[in-house]
Amino acid sequence: MLAPMAGVSDLPFRLINRSFGASLAFTEMIDVRAVSHRDKRTRKMLMSSPEDRPLGVQLLSADEKYLAGALDVLTEHDFDLLDFNAACPTPKVTRKGKGAALLKEPRKLAAILKVLVDHAKVPVTVKIRTGWDADSVNAREVALYAEDAGISALFIHGRTKTQGYSGRVDYRNIKEVKDALKIPVIASGDNLSLSLIKRMFDETGCDGVAVARGALGNPWIFREAIRFYHDGIHITGPAMDERIATIKKHFDLVIKCSGEERGIGIFRKFLIWYTKGLRGVKPLRDKAFRTNRKDQFLEIVEELRKFDSPSPSL
Ligand SMILES: Cc1cc2nc3c(=O)[nH]c(=O)nc-3n(C[C@H](O)[C@H](O)[C@H](O)COP(=O)(O)O)c2cc1C
Repeated sequence: MLAPMAGVSDLPFRLINRSFGASLAFTEMIDVRAVSHRDKRTRKMLMSSPEDRPLGVQLLSADEKYLAGALDVLTEHDFDLLDFNAACPTPKVTRKGKGAALLKEPRKLAAILKVLVDHAKVPVTVKIRTGWDADSVNAREVALYAEDAGISALFIHGRTKTQGYSGRVDYRNIKEVKDALKIPVIASGDNLSLSLIKRMFDETGCDGVAVARGALGNPWIFREAIRFYHDGIHITGPAMDERIATIKKHFDLVIKCSGEERGIGIFRKFLIWYTKGLRGVKPLRDKAFRTNRKDQFLEIVEELRKFDSPSPSL
């Protein structure tokens, strides 16, 4: 599955990853208050299309207050699953008692989940971390409370809030959570390559994996994992032709969603990710960043044919 990523998981990104096999994708996290206010940015985050299924909408909230209003507004949108974020480590979020701050209050988290389960028309899931910090690892307790609240599955990022996005993934803790629950457990954390995905499945016994940073500029990670798990075949990354075709397709989707000028700005970060590991690519990237014209941007992308594909991930 494609894990949610704020500032990244828009409709074009989801569609590209789905085209290589991502079986479920999420919107980035959306604050329930923003949903209730129907603001423009939030409506864009909720933008979807018939091919963008199954889709999870991820919500962020400190308490139950705005949930009912948000659920009302969400009935205007098509999606398949509601995920609740109790994992975001950003101080701006946790200071207000949202995201990973809720790991410190498993009962409060369970109360929020119960409201969602009782009122949502789709299955509800939660995303947690192993705990707040190394001294308060409590994912098993949090997960059991969440399961009791009636959720359908649990996502766990195998790091504490304090670790943020670096440091070792706690495979043992994910396994403890998996062993304690009856509902499916989907594991996240350093699923950056097929061998790390394999490690996650092997060491935790998880029911599924969610790929986040491993999909940046590398939607082929889903195809590699699926070919390995379904057919037992190791395939390598894409040849340059396919890389270029995918970049163009992704770029086209972004332009369709956001228009030429804004779209080129949005796509810059994706171009950096797609061209990571190509030796000597900086002048080409710089040239792409100087243009605000779609045709010129596409011509520059064509110049990638001069480069060798980066070596496949191991
Ligand atoms: C840029 C970025 C944005 C993220 N935004 C969210 C988010 O909105 N909601 C969420 O649950 N997790 C978010 N995450 C966490 C990822 O979903 C994932 O759990 C985490 O990155 C660990 O996986 P990885 O090591 O494979 O990247 C974000 C991660 C990154 C790198």
